[in-house]
Amino acid sequence: MSKILVTGGAGFIGSNFVRLLLERTTHAVVNFDALTYAGNLENLAGLEKEPRYTFVRGDIRDAAAVRAVFETHAPDVVAHFAAESHVDRSVLDATAFVATNVVGTQVLLDASRAAGVKRFLHVSTDEVYGSLGATGRFREDSPLQPNSPYSASKTGSDLLVRAAFHTHGFAAIVTRCSNNYGPYQFPEKLIPLMIANALEGKPLPVYGDGKNVRDWIHVRDHCEALLRVIEKGRPGEVYNIGGDSERENLHVVRQILALAGRGEELIRYVTDRPGHDRRYAIDSGKMRAELGWTPSVRFEDGLAQTFRWYVDNRTWWERVRSGAYREYYERWYGQRR
Ligand code: NAD
Ligand code: TYD
Repeated sequence: MSKILVTGGAGFIGSNFVRLLLERTTHAVVNFDALTYAGNLENLAGLEKEPRYTFVRGDIRDAAAVRAVFETHAPDVVAHFAAESHVDRSVLDATAFVATNVVGTQVLLDASRAAGVKRFLHVSTDEVYGSLGATGRFREDSPLQPNSPYSASKTGSDLLVRAAFHTHGFAAIVTRCSNNYGPYQFPEKLIPLMIANALEGKPLPVYGDGKNVRDWIHVRDHCEALLRVIEKGRPGEVYNIGGDSERENLHVVRQILALAGRGEELIRYVTDRPGHDRRYAIDSGKMRAELGWTPSVRFEDGLAQTFRWYVDNRTWWERVRSGAYREYYERWYGQRR
């Protein structure tokens, strides 16, 4: 059994990963998360008394706080999810993106190396490769050509992780995944935003002509891949992870409207995102060949399941939208601050 420090474990993918670790392995988990607007402990409701799970509120930019968590918990493995993750927010203000994604990652690398961590997983994105035309797919050796402040800051962090391996022989691995969807995704990203709006009968804002393409992967498939990389991946390597499910945005939006029993009159074509990447598509041949991983969820099935989850868990996203989710930390952990 290992002890795994998960940064950003209160976010969308991090919380799904924490749940997967507790369900499928015997590892102990320490969740280190600053609880920004995107951090929601309700994603982990029910785990408060789980003996293998500990939550520590802390910021990866804060070197003293990061050192303290290593001294107290002595993790063997770090799985680094913490990041500012929303492209539209990075267009409005890139400051937090540079501070958390770039500086915070270096703080975490330094502390992990000093503490003798045996394996460091850096969770990154296909957006570091930039945008594709109508054909082709991103491979691990594709050029890094990020176009948004978000993807540029993730590229910076990927390269710092690479440098830690090459300079210090630190056992770090980078994964680059395509667009995730599934339970507990903050309703500012395409799929949960459209589901929540459709359920409320509100307009669905489609950027530009709606023909941008994303390669969707169910969050569970991504988390399974990450576990495989921790167990069997080679230090210093990059692994692409994708869902083999390229879909135009408009197609996804129409499917959601159909699931919700709503008509196309809810679609609103709005001003395009500045610098909007046209198409992402991932070649995950290396994950298949080296680690024997393949995605298992068909997009249409995963979308229907996800739609059902948002119907069944309406209170979860209504509390996100009202801001009430922020009270959860105080209720469970506030007195220990
Ligand atoms: P998210 O925004 O839902 O969650 C981010 C989490 O990090 C939150 O819990 C937040 O509180 C925490 N955090 C932010 N700044 C912090 C800081 N300074 N210190 C400590 N914690 C901090 O993000 P997500 O969608 O779950 O993405 C997780 C990771 O996966 C990110 O690194 C992202 O770049 C990467 N990724 C996401 C996708 C996707 O489709 N969502 C795809 C590929 C890669
Ligand atoms: P998003 O979920 O923000 O992920 P990313 O930008 O990291 O790929 O957006 C997915 C796609 O959906 C992207 O092409 C932008 C588009 N989009 C809309 O058309 N309307 C919206 O309201 C949002 C949030 C996204």
